[in-house]
Amino acid sequence: MTPRHFLTLMELSQEELQKLITRSIELKAMQQSGICYEPFKNKVLGMIFEKSSTRTRVSFETAMVQCGGHAIFLSPRDTQLGRGEPIEDTARVLSSMVDCIMLRTYAQEKLELFAQYSKVPVINALTDMYHPCQLLADIQTFIENRGSIQGKKVAWIGDGNNMCHSYMRAALQFDFELAIASPIDYQPHADLVNQCQAHISICTDPAEAVKNADLVSTDVWASMGQEEEQKKRASAFAPYQVNAELMSLAKSDALFMHCLPAHRGEEVSAEVIDGSQSIVWEQAENRLHSQKALLEFLLSPKLKRCTPQS
Ligand code: CP
Ligand code: NVA
Repeated sequence: MTPRHFLTLMELSQEELQKLITRSIELKAMQQSGICYEPFKNKVLGMIFEKSSTRTRVSFETAMVQCGGHAIFLSPRDTQLGRGEPIEDTARVLSSMVDCIMLRTYAQEKLELFAQYSKVPVINALTDMYHPCQLLADIQTFIENRGSIQGKKVAWIGDGNNMCHSYMRAALQFDFELAIASPIDYQPHADLVNQCQAHISICTDPAEAVKNADLVSTDVWASMGQEEEQKKRASAFAPYQVNAELMSLAKSDALFMHCLPAHRGEEVSAEVIDGSQSIVWEQAENRLHSQKALLEFLLSPKLKRCTPQS
């Protein structure tokens, strides 16, 4: 049987995504009530990180452990991946041993190739193109604070990067309006813009994008792998800082999100990220709950097979 993967946000139907968010909220409540829920007993998640991570690593590992399973951290530095073993061979071998694999890498194509050769579900834990796991947490966090996101306006300020691309996919899947303001040389991928046209608008003026927004979100100006461009980007993005003045142009109860890590004084001012409209800490915590729901969804065929027959 071909496994289900989670590579872009588009592998799940709108209905499945809605259920997944509802389940994330339930799993969070269960944990907060001290209910022990261990459906992943004897299940193992392989976690390959070719880039740094704090939230993604800790949330996936904790999710597996809290649900009775186990996670293995793998990096190119200490595996044969770093010595040139083909990705196809790694996928075949790892997926014959573990139950699910999470990969953080550079090219989306590499992730897709890995998934093609994997016998178990593969999760995109961030590529240069997408960061879909972050969007599960972001949507959950919005819904917990404001109810349904359908028909709401979200403003994306800054780089047309992996987070922006996943917001674009989310706008389609969760049916909200996404207004993107990016410098002309840093706008999102043109093919994706065409695919998402009905739900997005693009401009270069942050004030225009945030007008009437229910949620304002941003991200670093230089993503992982773009460190050498930092200086050039800092000057192109200087007018795109989310500060109190910009937030004052959104709806008065607009929320602020950032996937983190953040650079105060660059893409966001300290008064915004540490202010009353910011929900970044809930957003970060929800990585744990939404990824538990994702793992439960992807592992569910195996979990059912493990249920003792009565
Ligand atoms: N937001 C996010 O993915 O954070 P990490 O890079 O720390 O995993
Ligand atoms: N756009 C950022 C997101 C980090 C979670 C990066 O790719 O570095």
